[in-house]
Amino acid sequence: MSNETFYLTTPIYYVNATPHLGHAYTTILADTMARFQKLRLGPEQVYFLTGTDEHGDKIVQAAAQGGESPQAYADRISGIFQETWKRLGLAPNQFIRTTSEPHKRAVQRFLQQIYDAGDIYFGEYGGHYCFGCERFYTEKELQDGQCPDHQTVPAFIKEQNYFFRMGKYQEWLIDHIHRHPDFIRPERFRNEVLSFLKEPLEDLCISRPSARLTWGIPLPFDDRYVTYVWFDALINYISALGWPDGDAFRLFWPAAQHLIAKDILKPHAIYWPTMLKAAGLPPYRHLNVHGYWKVEEAKMSKSRGSVVRPLDLADKYGVDAFRYFVLREMTFGLDAGFSEDALVARLNADLANDLGNLYSRVLKLIQRYYDGRITYTPGDEGLADAAHAAVADVTAAMERFAFSEALSTIWNLVSSTNKYLVTNEPWKRDPGDPRTKAVLFTAAETLRMIATLLLPFLPQTADRMLRGLGVTEPTTPLRFETACPSPSRIEAQEWRVQEAQSLFPRIQTTAAKPLLRKPPLTPALSPTISSPPREGEDAGEGGEYAEQITIEEFRRVDLRVAEVIEAAAIPGSKKLVKLRVRLKDEERTVVAGLKVHYPPESWPGKRIILAANLKPASLMGITSQGMVLAAEDEAGRIVLLTPEAPIDSGSKVR
Ligand code: MSP
Repeated sequence: MSNETFYLTTPIYYVNATPHLGHAYTTILADTMARFQKLRLGPEQVYFLTGTDEHGDKIVQAAAQGGESPQAYADRISGIFQETWKRLGLAPNQFIRTTSEPHKRAVQRFLQQIYDAGDIYFGEYGGHYCFGCERFYTEKELQDGQCPDHQTVPAFIKEQNYFFRMGKYQEWLIDHIHRHPDFIRPERFRNEVLSFLKEPLEDLCISRPSARLTWGIPLPFDDRYVTYVWFDALINYISALGWPDGDAFRLFWPAAQHLIAKDILKPHAIYWPTMLKAAGLPPYRHLNVHGYWKVEEAKMSKSRGSVVRPLDLADKYGVDAFRYFVLREMTFGLDAGFSEDALVARLNADLANDLGNLYSRVLKLIQRYYDGRITYTPGDEGLADAAHAAVADVTAAMERFAFSEALSTIWNLVSSTNKYLVTNEPWKRDPGDPRTKAVLFTAAETLRMIATLLLPFLPQTADRMLRGLGVTEPTTPLRFETACPSPSRIEAQEWRVQEAQSLFPRIQTTAAKPLLRKPPLTPALSPTISSPPREGEDAGEGGEYAEQITIEEFRRVDLRVAEVIEAAAIPGSKKLVKLRVRLKDEERTVVAGLKVHYPPESWPGKRIILAANLKPASLMGITSQGMVLAAEDEAGRIVLLTPEAPIDSGSKVR
């Protein structure tokens, strides 16, 4: 039994809106990660927290609009969040609410502790206050003297308030980030925080007079004030564990990781660690920051409308298909565009086709040939070896929150298994031949490992797969180390598989067709909520990809596989390398600007992808007949694109 623990939190969501795709995404990521860690470490070693943020002016306003009391309103919306997560199959260890008594007590204790230490002081603050946003704006932030979100002139308010000496901890924080390079990840957000910290950090106003805002937690040292937003909300991460005395706090806080989107980077990367430091508590271990879902060009958010409701999608396509799509489609840390047609395409290609067909094919053959019984038959261990290696690769990807990469590793295994069957064609073989048995056993065994690896990602489907494959108790905690043994540990045993049932029905493209046209979203997915960002949040950035083109335009580029025969440096050029390549029966000269990354001696024998119908261009006096394709990441690292398996030179890339 491992002593390692794992504690993961999502933001607690404001109850001024009902759950949308953005909230669902973060909570699905956290649920997937928690399930993964439970398989790795054991269920009791892992704690997953989510909840709702229920204080503040906006809640009072939203409640008043519907003629409800703030508490009744918060109860209702928080209930909708809890119900939605349940219907999406998300299983947090705790759903915390900031209006609960234990949370309020913890917030007051935290405030008192920092006040006693001398890091909260009383002072005066004057500024342009927008009541809609519930925040002060600096002169610079106003647009023509107006609030950028509400286009109204803010009131100039001068009032006395309490302040947290955040500036005092600036140097400590910078040093901590430098000493723990993956404290904030991915790196782009760490850099963003460090660049923000180059400017002097101002102290943080942490109160509002109760005369103006009553719906908040009173300051323990002055009940004429309530605590404001982040000094209430952030503390949920420790109040949920029973801080200061709870056993859960002792067990899980040292392993704390937060998961957020980039909109609330500043409060989590700057306010929260300095608050913890002032209270004498160690900081969390990692802040994991993901990008934004955008719908139809715009960011999907409360501030701009365009909202996708998760339950509509899950009802329409199934919980696991929805879950798979969001996990696979977004690269952690980057923004992604959401479209229903992309979801349908993935469902049909990856789930119905690759995984679903593989599963039913194998089960049907075992039923037909052996009446559902299959016994351990040695022979093909290469595939089982690959499955075993996939556990390590998936674990490494998950350590970095690279969900999409983890799924792509699993899908490589699915493809290898499909290829293995196509190569060995068990459907054409004699069932009595031991070789046929070995092929089907190997495929079933690999599928069992695929299903185990998929448990965190597609819980319902993986459970069905395991049952179908004759794993009798798939709901009892399975651990990777026992469910995915190395081939040498597979014991001679018999498996009894069930009748094959379709895992994912294919969505008919005729039905999906209308969704492929713009706008791709059905009315059920149209805007439902709208409210501006709060202090410490930002509105995100624009899209990152080039303009859209049609498939016909794309097809005009003739991409081909080419084999490099020889390569040479070009005298006088630091970057260019001259290649002689073969495309089927034709030879060409191509100049590539990749010498720094790929020196001449590394090229011969490589198969590359060539844009073959580019007009010839002259570089350093050499005519280049095509262009080599390579990928470049944000750090400037360049890798060559090559076919995933051997294929004839001259083959067309489609
Ligand atoms: N209540 C604060 C958080 C306090 S945490 C101590 C808050 N709430 S929120 O309801 O606005 O939720 C913000 C979070 O919702 C984001 O950080 C992200 O997790 C999720 N998302 C909301 N819109 C999103 C997208 N369009 N895309 C991806 N996730 C987004 O801020």
